Amino acid sequence: MNICCIGAGYVGGPTMAMIAHKNPSIEVTVVDINAERIAKWNSSELPIFEPGLNEVVQSTRGKNLFFSTEIDEAILRADIIFVSVNTPTKTYGVGAGRAADLKFVELCARRIASVVHTGKKIIVEKSTIPVRTAESIKKILKTNSNGAEFQVLSNPEFLAEGTAMADLENPDRILIGGDVATPEGNTAIETLVSIYEKWVTRDRIITTNLWSSELSKLVANAFLAQRISSINSISALCEATGADVDEVAFAVGRDSRIGPKFLKASVGFGGSCFQKDILNLVYLSEHFGLPEVAEYWNQVIKMNDWQKKRFGQKIVRSLFNTVSDKKIAIFGFAFKKDTNDTRESAAIYVCRDLLEEQAQVSIYDPQVGEERIVEALGSSGVSVSDDPYEAAKDAHAIAILTEWDEFKSLDFQRLYDNMMKPAFIFDGRNLLAINKLRKIGFEAHCIGK
Ligand code: NAD
Ligand code: UDX
Repeated sequence: MNICCIGAGYVGGPTMAMIAHKNPSIEVTVVDINAERIAKWNSSELPIFEPGLNEVVQSTRGKNLFFSTEIDEAILRADIIFVSVNTPTKTYGVGAGRAADLKFVELCARRIASVVHTGKKIIVEKSTIPVRTAESIKKILKTNSNGAEFQVLSNPEFLAEGTAMADLENPDRILIGGDVATPEGNTAIETLVSIYEKWVTRDRIITTNLWSSELSKLVANAFLAQRISSINSISALCEATGADVDEVAFAVGRDSRIGPKFLKASVGFGGSCFQKDILNLVYLSEHFGLPEVAEYWNQVIKMNDWQKKRFGQKIVRSLFNTVSDKKIAIFGFAFKKDTNDTRESAAIYVCRDLLEEQAQVSIYDPQVGEERIVEALGSSGVSVSDDPYEAAKDAHAIAILTEWDEFKSLDFQRLYDNMMKPAFIFDGRNLLAINKLRKIGFEAHCIGK
């Protein structure tokens, strides 16, 4: 069997590396229009940082895993074609700011149809897309194909960045949606099941109709994000009442019906998925004439925006209502630890608000380089350092915006000694031992305490 995956990003790369690793007899080719990205996948410095990824790529690349820009050739050779391209929020026209932009997905469907003229192929939607997208893909394939037969499956990806390889190795579930009403549809589903069954037990492989699979992905992300917005809303109440949000989360999470995960109060969730997918759900709900459903989910985003804003405002208020020309050290720019991804990172929003107040932000992140930071913020008022002590030298405040483990073992006495006084620290992740910081002399603030 031969697999092609269109899109060599955060999902396509790691997912295909795992499939190749677990299926040595299957040849897997990951293709992309971005030649620079493909060159990096073929180099010793992979384009994304993900613990454990390098090892799996090293063990498979050149054997049964290939990265290439020869898209048509890979499509032609493949029995199964995964579509794992980006589906960002639309920035123009109808649905701007909410709907998913499906232009890249559609381009893939059209390219497949134009290249494949005979035989049978299975097309797998790996990208996160609105419910009923498979219908459009089927139509494009059918009306443009010259005799080839296509089955369209939905196989959304649930990996989280930073733990992608562990998530792929040991998934809670694999979800495969297909045309369950036809024998051809069921055969296609079983073909994809057989690939995952090489390492995932059958009871964790869920098969559904196409629309349930597509919608489940949006709903899973909405539920996860909702938990974070829920605990973040309570963090504000904790600050007002003297309760401690970590203690509340622990006590609430011990109820087995609620569970302990995804209840960590923070400066706000980021990442390329949560906001985009909820906006998409909101748009779909409105489209189907359900404004109450739309408003319910929109509130998750509103609470997250408020949490990010609230954090920046707290810094300004604490620093005597002005940060103008004050150096603020930002520790962490990635949207979570163990990734170099900055998409929708809360740090971007907090920094923008501080820059608006004419602060000088000095940023340190263990994995995010200057280019990406300047791309997100511009260069005015922004400096990037590869050393946390340098970043905090002469600063009025430190803000922790990503929960990198290494921040826990920094020498805070040394940081304090080299800062302006009073020295403030704002822990947007409740990562640090706040009492120890206060003992050193910091005026320390955290979330929900
Ligand atoms: P990404 O932007 O990192 O990668 C997408 C890649 O597709 C890019 O390299 C781009 O050049 C390529 N591409 C776009 N159009 C193309 C075309 N016509 N032909 C060939 N290549 C093309 O995106 P990602 O983070 O990997 O996300 C991909 C999809 O998976 C999205 O729908 C996303 O919502 C979903 N998803 C992402 C995550 C995540 O954690 N990042 C998790 C689950 C699902
Ligand atoms: C998410 C989903 O978890 C994953 O299943 C889906 O496939 C893609 O979207 P990801 O965005 O990579 O994954 O990371 P995740 O661990 O979900 O974190 C998202 C954001 O929420 C991060 O900014 C993180 O810091 C924040 N978060 C997470 C919290 O603030 N509190 C928590 O308790 C958990």
